[in-house]
Amino acid sequence: MKNTRILFVCLGNICRSPAAEEIMRQLIKKDGLSNKIDVDSAGTYGGHAGDLPDPRMRRAARARGYELTSRSRRITEDDFRKFDLIVVMDDSNYERAYRLAPSLEDAGKIRRMTDFCRLHRATYVPDPYYEGARGFEIVLDLLEDACGGLLEELKKGPAI
Ligand code: 4NP
Repeated sequence: MKNTRILFVCLGNICRSPAAEEIMRQLIKKDGLSNKIDVDSAGTYGGHAGDLPDPRMRRAARARGYELTSRSRRITEDDFRKFDLIVVMDDSNYERAYRLAPSLEDAGKIRRMTDFCRLHRATYVPDPYYEGARGFEIVLDLLEDACGGLLEELKKGPAI
């Protein structure tokens, strides 16, 4: 398996993408692949830069065994040079990331998180920011499914 660097991207980088980052990190560690796969996360909106993840997301994630400690940052053009895969949560993230990509080849690194789901049929990971507690559980269900699928794809070979 080739070394892979993955950047998870949402809007604020305080709910969905930091959760994806930690879920993926734990799966990678469990498989002994921490020296092969690097993960990070960023947001297309910089308004929460420097913040810890949203307390509601942290609480819901902690209940499933994930400690979210990353600090929010905005995605940059340079991320397209640093990362092999840019995994976005919804269409809005996709469009914003696409516009930021320095080249068409770099834009080709963008994938939708839900494309890796194996159990759920969703086409995007819904923004939980203005939702109740249930919204955060749905996000975690989708992210656990998709992170498992993404890791399987990476282990299979060079296709993505
Ligand atoms: P995220 O959720 O994109 O999953 O981190 C949001 C965080 C902040 C805002 C919207 C969504 N906001 O409008 O500030």
